[in-house]
Amino acid sequence: MRTQVAIIGAGPAGLLLSHLLHLQGIESVVLESRSRAEIESTIRAGVLEQGTMDILTETGVGERMRSEGALHHGIELAFDGARHRIDLTELTGKAITVYPQHEVIKDLVAARLAAQGELLFEVSGVALHGVETSQPSVTFLHGGAECKLEADFIIGCDGYHGVSRPAMPGQGLRKDFQRIYPFGWFGILVESAPSSDELIYARHDRGFALVSTRSPTVQRLYFQCDPSDHTDNWSDDRIWAELHARLENRDGWKLKEGRIFQKNIIGMRSFVSTPMQAGRLFLAGDAAHIVPPTGAKGLNLAVSDVRLLARGLDQFYRQGSEEHLNGYSDEALKRIWRAEYFSWTMTRLLHTFADATPFEREMQRAELENIVSSRALATSLAENYVGAF
Ligand code: APR
Ligand code: PHB
Repeated sequence: MRTQVAIIGAGPAGLLLSHLLHLQGIESVVLESRSRAEIESTIRAGVLEQGTMDILTETGVGERMRSEGALHHGIELAFDGARHRIDLTELTGKAITVYPQHEVIKDLVAARLAAQGELLFEVSGVALHGVETSQPSVTFLHGGAECKLEADFIIGCDGYHGVSRPAMPGQGLRKDFQRIYPFGWFGILVESAPSSDELIYARHDRGFALVSTRSPTVQRLYFQCDPSDHTDNWSDDRIWAELHARLENRDGWKLKEGRIFQKNIIGMRSFVSTPMQAGRLFLAGDAAHIVPPTGAKGLNLAVSDVRLLARGLDQFYRQGSEEHLNGYSDEALKRIWRAEYFSWTMTRLLHTFADATPFEREMQRAELENIVSSRALATSLAENYVGAF
């Protein structure tokens, strides 16, 4: 088999890249280790920045996002018994849409298949070859057969646990940056109406909590937990008691309960792997970087990476120039580091750190007070949140 661009991984990064390349008349093949049903049902993030909404709309895959997603113009910060609204739209002119990542995946898969795009599910044993030559290739097993895909470029969109990052040549010369947080998030999906019109990010001495949503009938709630804890240790009653304690303030607002139909614990890390290019192999999305979910940036960073790659590949095939491609890593990393900074700031600001001194806890509260009482600081948070940079 031969194609122009071999893409490993059918997450948001790989699928959107394949879609953008198709619109530019560039051929690609996407290799995915899981089944279509699995990628279309795995529960992940849910917040789309304005720029992400715009690119889905401009490229013809935003229809369901607009009709089924929820457009939000603000978020709330809760601490010390009070809630404070950050008016995203008034402060930045932009908004966010809450629309689950697996729905974005469904829309992109449908678009690729409608365009006869080559999307191979349930491949295994993916291995990369010749990435420092101009004829790289990928070998893999598909339906029991050994296959070889030759391409001009390989793009690793296979997430944090994929094979592309370890296949980057010059491992000894690479620079990785990492911070692992001493807590995780306990996430639940609940059958109920929304408790709030907007997302609530709550700081509490018992730990952080977040009220998010998935649809008018399904809600997504999280609370800070020990990352080594197990969902079996948490009965529904214990979960509700914890969420009520962390979220309900003096203002009479009440969290709506409902049937909990999914529980999971996610670890939290910040991670950046550099550079994002080696010869004809490029990394995009979670394969190259991870943010803690507090800033809701993961999916949006994957989108901005592949936007840059699509531009670089367009320049290569139209003009024969590798200028944009060779600038990809530096250009992408500028935005990535800013999002890493924001996600780290939000995480630091809102979580309870077991080793924080009483003085440090007061500093955390004072920082939140500053944000909600200064238009300048609130604007900065809002700009970062909607991705207006
Ligand atoms: N071969 C083929 N496919 C693979 C391999 C492999 N060896 N390893 C992983 N994959 C697939 C995974 O099954 C997954 O479908 O690559 C895909 C990677 O997708 P994501 O992890 O969703 O990564 P990305 O597309 O970069 O999107 C980042 O995902 O984790 C969230 O919060 C994050 O929203 C962000 C988004
Ligand atoms: C989610 O709905 O899953 C979600 C929302 C906001 C975040 C993180 C996750 O910051």
